[in-house]
This record gives sequence, C-alpha cells and structure tokens, in this order.
Amino acid sequence: MTIVIAIDGPAAAGKGTLSRRIAETYGFHHLDTGLTYRATAKALLDAGLPLDDEPVAAKVAETLELAGLDRDILSKHEIGEAASKIAVMSSVRKALVTAQRAFSKKAPGTVLDGRDIGTVVCPDALVKLYVTASPEVRAQRRYDEILARGAAADYEAIFADVKQRDARDMGRADSPLKPAEDAHLLDTSEMSIEAAFQAAKSIIDAALSQNA
Ligand code: CDP
Ligand code: CDP
Repeated sequence: MTIVIAIDGPAAAGKGTLSRRIAETYGFHHLDTGLTYRATAKALLDAGLPLDDEPVAAKVAETLELAGLDRDILSKHEIGEAASKIAVMSSVRKALVTAQRAFSKKAPGTVLDGRDIGTVVCPDALVKLYVTASPEVRAQRRYDEILARGAAADYEAIFADVKQRDARDMGRADSPLKPAEDAHLLDTSEMSIEAAFQAAKSIIDAALSQNA
C-alpha cells in the first residue's frame, strides 16, 4: 500500500521546505499542490482570460499536466493572488483534486502539501501534519526571501497580503484551510528548519513503525 503524508498549512508556514526534505529522506514522490492552482491561474493570465469565469477556469484545470510544474516560473506574487481567487471555485478544485489523488497513489509513497490534503484530497493519509507559524513570522520569512534575491521589499505590504490570503483560504466555503481532526499540529514560529524537520520525522517514524 502506498504511504501518503499530507502536509497542510497557511502561506509561508514552511510546508514546501519540510515536504521536500521528507520526500528526499523517505524516497517518496512530492507534489506541491499549490503549483496546480498557480499553473491554472498563470494559463488564464497568459491567455488574457478572466479570473472570474468558472467554466473557463475549470476547462483549463481539467487539461493541466502535473509533469513540468516549476515553482521558479510560477512563484510570482500576482500568480499566487490569482491562484487563491480561482481556488474558491468548486469545479476548478474538483478537476485539480482528481489529478492530485491520482498522483498520491504512486508507489512506494507520496508527500502532498497544500491547504486541503488531510481534509479532502487524502483523508486516509497515514500521517497528517498541519504546519503553521504566526502571521508576523510568515511575513518576515517572505520578506527575507525577497531580500535574499536582491530585490526590494515592503514588510507592511507583505504582512497585509499574508493576512488577506489567510482570510481567503480559511473563509471559503469549499475546502477551507483548517487542520484535519487527526492532524499533528506543528507551530514553526520559533523553530529552525532543522528542528521542524526532526519533529516531523519523529511523528512519521512512529506512524511507519506502527503501520509495519
Ligand atoms: O506558496 P504559498 O504558500 O504562498 O501558496 P501556494 O501553496 O502556492 O498556494 C497558492 C494558493 O492556491 C493558496 O493561497 C490557495 O488559495 C490555493 N491552494 C488551495 O486552495 N488548495 C491547495 N491544496 C493548495 C493551494
Ligand atoms: O511552502 P510554504 O509557503 O508553506 O513555505 P516555504 O516556502 O517552505 O517556506 C517559507 C520560507 O520560510 C522559506 O524561505 C524557508 O526557508 C523559511 N523557513 C524558515 O525560516 N523556518 C522554518 N522552520 C521553515 C521555513
């Protein structure tokens, strides 16, 4: 049976960093499901199509190829904003969730990170982690990332964006961001990347040995 590890949480909580490290450690396939929403949004923006036409957005989502999704190409702030707008549409979610579930079945195991993995996409995942950090810490992480790239950044604007994105992701009717009842909560506000990884690894190792 394929082992599935579900990682959810708000923007800049450290989901991607943690998921990549877990996938590498256990030899599992990794899917950053945020990229599926970002790629759908980018395809609409590139084609000059509106972001508020649900049937058009769903058509684009249905034809999305998971192979070749690239965070570097999809990392732009405007694409993230557009992604969270089309992510409220149920028919877009339905198409992307179908592709994400198919990916989750790859042997020997998969790590999926996003907002609704433990609650909707893979409710039977062996391990569910809900990774979070305070809005201030998450805004600071995004701010540091931009400075590290040599660009200029405005902390207050990033902080406002983080809070707006949280409100949109937690407030939507379909698959809102929230911890699954059986998720392990991991607040990384005061944790280094290494400490967060070690905490996740203990939880996963315990679940794997119980499952063996
Ligand atoms: O990188 P960041 O955490 O800012 O966002 P992301 O994971 O790339 O996701 C972009 C947007 O896609 C999120 O704000 C959500 O609105 C949406 N999303 C979702 O609804 N469900 C998922 N499983 C993943 C992302
Ligand atoms: O995928 P998500 O948007 O949840 O977050 P990420 O892209 O993995 O992490 C956002 C930033 O926070 C990255 O620059 C990480 O290096 C940093 N980070 C950190 O400083 N401390 C942690 N415990 C986790 C992530």
